[in-house]
Amino acid sequence: MTKITLKVNGKAVSGDVPDETLLSVFLRENLRLTGTHVGCDTSQCGACVVHVDGKAMKSCTMLAASAEGAAVTTVEGLAKSKDELHPMQVAFKENHGLQCGFCTPGMIMTATDM
Ligand code: FES
Repeated sequence: MTKITLKVNGKAVSGDVPDETLLSVFLRENLRLTGTHVGCDTSQCGACVVHVDGKAMKSCTMLAASAEGAAVTTVEGLAKSKDELHPMQVAFKENHGLQCGFCTPGMIMTATDM
């Protein structure tokens, strides 16, 4: 087990996790931030992208322990408020920038970094 402490969407969080816990699993199962999706689980699809210290990262290939001390932003933390989407979210919405929608959170996080 590893004790990790990090900031997620501006809030300090901590937890004891098995050493092999992926960041995607920690976000989804420990923090219940299910906007981060897991599609391929092999670093190919990008559905799991979050920002780690401002850079887009595939959370399915990063250990949660590697995020120790980092600032992580998930798609849930991108908008300023529930009433005001991030401009990239607005752009996706206005241009119907999705297919089935499963990968959309990852595409938005990747596009925001770019
Ligand atoms: Fe496909 Fe992470 S789930 S790249």
